[in-house]
Amino acid sequence: MKSKKVSETYALKTEIVLPNDTNNLGNLMGGKLLHWMDVITAISAQRASNRTVVTVSVDFVEFKKSIPLGSVVILESRVTRTFNSSLEVRVDVAFENLGTGEKQSSNSAYYTFVAVDQSGRPIPVGNVEPETDPEKELYQGALQRRELRLLLAGRIKADQAKGLKEIFGIDQGISGHRPQGMDK
Ligand SMILES: CC(C)(COP(=O)(O)OP(=O)(O)OC[C@H]1O[C@@H](n2cnc3c(N)ncnc32)[C@H](O)[C@@H]1OP(=O)(O)O)[C@@H](O)C(=O)NCCC(=O)NCCS
Repeated sequence: MKSKKVSETYALKTEIVLPNDTNNLGNLMGGKLLHWMDVITAISAQRASNRTVVTVSVDFVEFKKSIPLGSVVILESRVTRTFNSSLEVRVDVAFENLGTGEKQSSNSAYYTFVAVDQSGRPIPVGNVEPETDPEKELYQGALQRRELRLLLAGRIKADQAKGLKEIFGIDQGISGHRPQGMDK
């Protein structure tokens, strides 16, 4: 399978907040932003894999600032790392006041996609190669983030999370205190 540079997976999306996109306070609805984030990250995942992808998880979404009506919303995404059939994509969101030209960071998040065949079954994807220091840092961190989300989803046990062990010093003792449903 052909590997891609992280930069080849870059996607950019620019939107304007229209009245139908807002809540009662006149700010962008979170669900609308999540939709835009899902669309752009899927484009990055498909640029990396050249496959149909489905969203399997979304994590670390935090809305730090409200985005007012009329703002321009700028979304940028890149694949940070691929695994077997899954790909982690980071999206960064900023917004611009067209009146003043001021740009502010809004939020960022990680989306995980799985490449699937025509029957919806997972299929392997190629690697992405980080080139810059920030890309390399995100590539390294992706291993721990994957373990964390698989642990929280109950798909792995604490003692299988080797990368997290290195960070948090998790030892065998903690696996006796898994949250409910972690034993699957
Ligand atoms: C995504 C899907 C195909 C995975 O099927 P599955 O039977 O769990 O497949 P597997 O157990 O082989 O896992 C496939 C990959 O998904 C990853 N995965 C599964 N659940 C995950 C989760 N909660 N978080 C992160 N990754 C997850 C696995 O780690 C694996 O990755 P890898 O191949 O890189 O190691 C299946 O869950 C699905 O079709 N979900 C619905 C997708 C969808 O409709 N999305 C739109 C939502 S509205």
